[in-house]
Amino acid sequence: MDNVRVGVLGVKRGTALTDFWEEAGGGKFEVVAVCDKWIEGLEAEKEKHKDKNIAYYSDFDDFINHDMDAVVLANYGSEHAPFAVRCLDRGLHVYSEVTACQNMKEAVELVEAVERSGKVYALAEQYCFMPAPRRMKEYYEAGKLGVLELADCEYAHDSSDAWHRLTFGDPNHWRNRAYSTFYCTHSIGPILHATGLRPVRVSGWESANNERRTSVGARTASFGVSMITLDNGAIVKAVNGNLRSGTLWYTMYGSKGKMESARSITRDGGVGHFMAELCDEDGKETLEDLYLAGDVKDPDYSPYGNAEYVCFEGFIDRVLGDADADTIGVYEALDMTLPGLFAYRSILKGGVPLEVPDMRDPATREKYRNDTLCTDPAAAGDMLVPSYSKGNPEIDPSVYEKVRRKFLEEMEKGEFKPE
Ligand SMILES: NC(=O)c1ccc[n+]([C@@H]2O[C@H](COP(=O)([O-])OP(=O)(O)OC[C@H]3O[C@@H](n4cnc5c(N)ncnc54)[C@H](O)[C@@H]3O)[C@@H](O)[C@H]2O)c1
Repeated sequence: MDNVRVGVLGVKRGTALTDFWEEAGGGKFEVVAVCDKWIEGLEAEKEKHKDKNIAYYSDFDDFINHDMDAVVLANYGSEHAPFAVRCLDRGLHVYSEVTACQNMKEAVELVEAVERSGKVYALAEQYCFMPAPRRMKEYYEAGKLGVLELADCEYAHDSSDAWHRLTFGDPNHWRNRAYSTFYCTHSIGPILHATGLRPVRVSGWESANNERRTSVGARTASFGVSMITLDNGAIVKAVNGNLRSGTLWYTMYGSKGKMESARSITRDGGVGHFMAELCDEDGKETLEDLYLAGDVKDPDYSPYGNAEYVCFEGFIDRVLGDADADTIGVYEALDMTLPGLFAYRSILKGGVPLEVPDMRDPATREKYRNDTLCTDPAAAGDMLVPSYSKGNPEIDPSVYEKVRRKFLEEMEKGEFKPE
């Protein structure tokens, strides 16, 4: 195979991602099918690509039977695992948006589906491939930081102004019940991917549910903090959520010094800017202060965009047979996802430390095979928990109507753009 035939589930994020890759002159793959149950979105996609030979589906059961090699899963953020299992069982390679799963039962089913299929599974955690995190990985693997002792990582993004585009005013949209530590892979992913270390224990804390959240219909805390112990004893502090002034920042302290990306508030390159203070073999300290824009394949693309390219390219290369292509496979995907789930379980228990399960271990899988605890009524059964630790806040239906109206107005004016 020298060209991967890709199907995309989810027209907002999914096709934005593959559009970007095509624009970047990626080659090596073509989009042959697109699926979304949102008919207006699907029609707009059809119009945009009318010169291409792409099949469009509104029903996943029809889409999955299309003749293709791989799928991009950019469906609801809480529903990736069951769709991934179906695709893998059908013999398709899977590139899954974050996070990998929403409960432990799904984690077990996902890992076993990947193992029995022998297909490539990769998590679309492109933050690991942003310039500073990539440089951190290179340095860590070369031993320049020594052994990791402490890391800080923050991904918080106030998307209140875009909530109508993200949730369509649907009270049951997954983002309205995505608890404070759910979306944790953008923060801890780059630390785990750089070091190859595994999370073993986590405790969680969360803030109050505030007006910024309730005014758009989100039944969650504003932000969450997780303290994670890794298997070498290092400690990671991760911040996730909707802080008013967003943050994207990584720092790692090791036995030979420290390295970090620029904090966003400095307006100084953010994750495109890498700094390190490291001791060489003779104990001499060196300082590095590098703007990594030169690393991107096309300087017009932002570090964000380039990371999408590199992350997806790794998946395509794996499918094409390059066993060394850098991807985030299923065990690592779960190492990145489960600290968020267990941090929230810890929050619900008042912050007690909990073990982060290692899904490589068959005995651990048995323990969690029927564990459906999550905030999604459709998946939780009798293990449903609220999406805010003090109980779901009451939100007047008029809030969702207002958000819905805003979304429809944008659609009517043709101004709707996916986030
Ligand atoms: N990696 C990143 O930086 C990043 C950025 C944005 C979004 N995401 C992820 O991308 C995914 C999609 O997010 P989004 O905000 O674009 O959209 P979303 O979560 O609102 O919806 C996804 C799309 O999938 C469609 N869909 C859902 N279930 C379907 C089904 N069974 N059959 C057919 N269509 C179905 C919906 O109609 C919708 O258009 C989420 O998992 C999100 O976490 C990741």
